[in-house]
Amino acid sequence: MTMSTPPTIRLNVNQQIHEVCADAQTPLLYVLRNDLKLKGTKFGCGLGQCGACNVLIDGRVTQSCNTPLWDCENKEILTIESFASPEGEFNSLQKAFEEEQAIQCGYCVSGVLISAQALLNKKPNPSDDEIFTALDGNLCRCGTHIRFIRAIKKVIAQGKKSI
Ligand code: FES
Repeated sequence: MTMSTPPTIRLNVNQQIHEVCADAQTPLLYVLRNDLKLKGTKFGCGLGQCGACNVLIDGRVTQSCNTPLWDCENKEILTIESFASPEGEFNSLQKAFEEEQAIQCGYCVSGVLISAQALLNKKPNPSDDEIFTALDGNLCRCGTHIRFIRAIKKVIAQGKKSI
């Protein structure tokens, strides 16, 4: 029996092109964490139910645990690592989360930030209902949703949009 070599897949991640050698069915999350060493995106449930693995693909919130590589080619992928400046300075949303002490264990927070930023990119002045809906797919076992919302509202009040 012969083993075939997995195909090379080109991915545009955080505005850099990466060529990865992997089966096209491999979930994007595995490649981000294991091949590209972008550890900010987390493995939570692995079932598309918790939002810990959220990334932006062409501006849309996408669960990377159940998105196969074949569905990522020729698309722009942004992970939480793209939020801070190259010098490591947090963007407005990250700063607000820090200031409002919205992070407890921190495991879910990159996925929450992705959801919140996608909302603010689309709608800089969302209603409360729109904020709740945007975070609907993000589970937080520490129960800090109230603080997430406070931080998001702080950014809205500042009239800032971060990326
Ligand atoms: Fe992807 Fe939970 S790890 S949704």
